Amino acid sequence: MMPVDVTKPNIARMYDYWLGGKDNFEADRAAAEAVRAQRPNIADQALDNKKFQTRAVSYAAGQGVAQFLDIGSGLPTSPVRAEGAEPLWLATHEAARAVIPDAVVAYVDYDPIAVVHSQALLGGGSPQVVAVGGDMRDPDAILADPAVRAAGFTPAQPACVILACILHFLDAPTARGVVHRLVEALAPGSYVAISVGYAPGHAGDDFARTYNAQDGPRIYAHSWDQVTALFDGLELVPPGLVDAATWQAGQAPPDAPAGQASMILAGLGRKP
Ligand SMILES: C[S@@+](CC[C@H](N)C(=O)[O-])C[C@H]1O[C@@H](n2cnc3c(N)ncnc32)[C@H](O)[C@@H]1O
Repeated sequence: MMPVDVTKPNIARMYDYWLGGKDNFEADRAAAEAVRAQRPNIADQALDNKKFQTRAVSYAAGQGVAQFLDIGSGLPTSPVRAEGAEPLWLATHEAARAVIPDAVVAYVDYDPIAVVHSQALLGGGSPQVVAVGGDMRDPDAILADPAVRAAGFTPAQPACVILACILHFLDAPTARGVVHRLVEALAPGSYVAISVGYAPGHAGDDFARTYNAQDGPRIYAHSWDQVTALFDGLELVPPGLVDAATWQAGQAPPDAPAGQASMILAGLGRKP
């Protein structure tokens, strides 16, 4: 796992800050604001991404999938909400267990703070909900993790793997290799939910430079074709690959392809 240093900005904690969470430090907040100066809608995009995950997990659970692997799960930020109002999003185990009460959920991150906070806050003590340290670049180690297996996860049964806002921390061929290996290992009927930051024509711009100043992985700008290729071997659930803000399972695809605006591209693939 990566080392902990709260004096340097960290991507999990910056993301927590954009979502209105409390698990962040001064260095994270300063870096997050510098990124927001480059991309004023970054907090909205983080929220759209959370809502996409909630909908995708609910959909997969509704198809009978009872085990979920949330890779690069981040800090367990609770949605800020007005008293009495519905939460803006649900954690993976909350969305899954609203449909299948004993669903198995494993949260995986390589950031020890994210893992420890998730262990403390998620699952309410259920042995079928676990948080473990793991690196997405080694999918086989995650699939074989003893704590993930002890929770009841088995690749022999359909599963839903969530790779939300994490694959842009890998170059496109590496990201594709990670997804390919996971898909290969999963049972037919499994789902893979993917969201990726998408900013056509913005590679190497001030946003990327500011983002890469955080003390963690650099961000890569994947092309439309590179994001599409992540779903090779999978059937895209309608509406296909769209702005996370608009993704609703079963909806018709948009009339026009994604334009030049920056967005979180999101899709849910099913292994036939
Ligand atoms: C932007 S946050 C996204 C959190 C969550 N998936 C979501 O979309 O709400 C990215 C997370 O990916 C994690 N991460 C980055 N590279 C990773 C890697 N190689 N293996 C595991 N986790 C990683 C970071 O620690 C961070 O928690």
